[in-house]
Amino acid sequence: MSLLEAVLDPITPTTIVDVAKSWNVVLAGTLLIVIFLSSVIFLRQRSRLLPQGWNEFIHNYKFPAESQPNWSQHYGSQAAGDDEIRSKPSGIYNPNQPQFIHSYCPATGQYLGRVPASTKEDIDTAVQRCQVAQDAWKKTSFEERKVVLRLLLEFLKKNQDQIVRIACRDSGKTMVDAALGEIMVTLEKLAWTLKHGEHALRPSSRAGPANLLIRYKTAEVVYEPLGVVLAIVSWNYPLHNILNPIIASIFTGNSIVVKCSESVVWSSRYFVEMVQSCIAKCGHSPDLVTLVCPWPSDADYLTAHPGISQATFIGSKPVAHKVLTAAALALTPVTVELGGKDAAIVLDEHLPSWRQCDGIASVLMRGSFQSAGQNCIGIERIICEPNAYDGLVKVLTERVPQLRLGSSLDDDDDKNIDVGAMVNDSRFDELERLIVDAVTRGASLVCGGQRYNHPEYPLGSYFQPTLLVDVTPEMEIAKSELFAPVMVLMKAENAEDAIRIANLAKFGLGGAVFGKRGSAATEKVVRDMKTGNIAVNDFATFYVCQLPFGGVNESGYGKFGGEEGLRGLCLAKSVCRDRFPGISTSIPAVVDYPLQNMTKAWKFVRAMNAAAYAASVKEFAISLGQLLRNMM
Ligand SMILES: *[C@@H]1O[C@H](CO)[C@@H](O)[C@H](O)[C@H]1NC(C)=O
Ligand SMILES: *[C@@H]1O[C@H](CO)[C@@H](O)[C@H](O)[C@H]1NC(C)=O
Ligand SMILES: *[C@@H]1O[C@H](CO)[C@@H](O)[C@H](O)[C@H]1NC(C)=O
Ligand SMILES: *[C@@H]1O[C@H](CO)[C@@H](O)[C@H](O)[C@H]1NC(C)=O
Repeated sequence: MSLLEAVLDPITPTTIVDVAKSWNVVLAGTLLIVIFLSSVIFLRQRSRLLPQGWNEFIHNYKFPAESQPNWSQHYGSQAAGDDEIRSKPSGIYNPNQPQFIHSYCPATGQYLGRVPASTKEDIDTAVQRCQVAQDAWKKTSFEERKVVLRLLLEFLKKNQDQIVRIACRDSGKTMVDAALGEIMVTLEKLAWTLKHGEHALRPSSRAGPANLLIRYKTAEVVYEPLGVVLAIVSWNYPLHNILNPIIASIFTGNSIVVKCSESVVWSSRYFVEMVQSCIAKCGHSPDLVTLVCPWPSDADYLTAHPGISQATFIGSKPVAHKVLTAAALALTPVTVELGGKDAAIVLDEHLPSWRQCDGIASVLMRGSFQSAGQNCIGIERIICEPNAYDGLVKVLTERVPQLRLGSSLDDDDDKNIDVGAMVNDSRFDELERLIVDAVTRGASLVCGGQRYNHPEYPLGSYFQPTLLVDVTPEMEIAKSELFAPVMVLMKAENAEDAIRIANLAKFGLGGAVFGKRGSAATEKVVRDMKTGNIAVNDFATFYVCQLPFGGVNESGYGKFGGEEGLRGLCLAKSVCRDRFPGISTSIPAVVDYPLQNMTKAWKFVRAMNAAAYAASVKEFAISLGQLLRNMM
């Protein structure tokens, strides 16, 4: 093309191609910049997910020798002065050393060590440190708190072996039980909180007043940290019971004093140190989480401590009374989770089919024998309709006697252990008495029923996995919480009768129903069982699903876990603002102090109430007229 042509006709196909080309360059350039910027942002976010060097930190963490397989020192009672003497453990308290709490492995009787019992001074120091740490922590963003939770999650996941062994040494449970009941539920709590915690704590916008005349107000609830909270936790899941309140507390911006049970102080100390190290690794004060373990005589001092804003108590009713009395002195609110006598109701609807029976039996056995039956929401009673009863008795009679007791810590691949030890043998007499009493009253003992002297672990605290059938509601064993590897079967005439029997318990924590999905009978049980939680065709899943957890009647009150649990650790601050710019409350002259005319003021306010809550246009118009008449 000549220059002339180009001047005369600037828009030729060639120039179009050129323009298009340059547009492509611009587009490609823009795209590159966008990709670059977003990857920078993404990588910055990635680097914010976990602290620098987190992998080495997790990998090189120093666990105690007891966390290794085949750890084999210190049998029997240290108090005897000779590590090698295989005498029965003398218990957590030794009158010659009252300042120490002594720890033994319930499965083997091995001496684990002694931990100083916290004094009143220790408690003061713990609360004070928590207060200082919380002052800085409450200002952190959710993103900063999530970094700590993420590190904890990775830490637990990657160090499962050592952590589980520490929990098992102190509680006597098997490693499989610990992996389910300690690790899995804790990982779930962490993952759930990371994913949904912030949503639960976002400011909640409310409808505001129904009063027509004050509709210019907005209403909102914001959730602020409370300060230092206290968790008094039970021994049955030493890792999970401590981590659960810690996760919720630090995510909500609180700091926490944890009071563990004397029975598991040895492992609790390692677990809290673990958490503190993770917090420190993320650049925050490890004092956010402090552990105390006083003897019961000093426990009230802790509960009544004026520095504590809220307390969660997991334990027994007699101790709860003491805790609540002490907490009342400081007006500290307490969430109370006590025992349970959870019933699993099995309906006839699709039974007996052998596959169904077997599947249900598997769930029931896990619910009854996990952690040697020491579960707040373990299945304590199995109540069946007649056909289900016959089918289950058959299957369970075959399967329960096969359960093997022992310690699973020695990595012996040739040995399979199903059920671990109990925390100690303090309650063996009582359990044997309850079982004998039931048999005397007509129950049949299929297997177990007694303590077990394990040939390999003569110092262990073992109770035989027990199956007791034909139990009736008036037997004592059907009423009191067993917290032991004892499976109790009861026959009901029908669903109605099963619900009646289930509701005879003074407890109401969890429950389960096995029936056809969505059937009227299943839903009736869900509705009519007097418990705080219920699982359909399963057990304890309401816990794993991160729902608010808590019971009714003698199982306690208040909820922890889930959204309600997170909000329960917060001050729900109510905030009221003006909806529109320039419109705010001004006191009408007629009711302004000092009143000019009391009669007029009265008529004005009366008309105002009538107008604001008028049921009809006519009423509104009349009231408004009166209001305006009396306004000036
Ligand atoms: C057995 O364990 C329970 C629960 O922790 C505790 O109350 C009791 O004092 C323990 N008994 C002994 C002898 O250690
Ligand atoms: C622990 O002991 C068992 C049985 O004695 C053995 O098979 C296993 O190899 C040992 N494990 C370690 C890590 O020493
Ligand atoms: C609590 O349980 C007891 C004992 O079963 C029962 O008598 C009482 O009615 C229950 N209270 C409530 C409020 O359900
Ligand atoms: C108050 O207002 C009423 C009219 O609503 C009038 O009748 C009365 O005299 C006034 N009283 C005084 C003390 O001014």
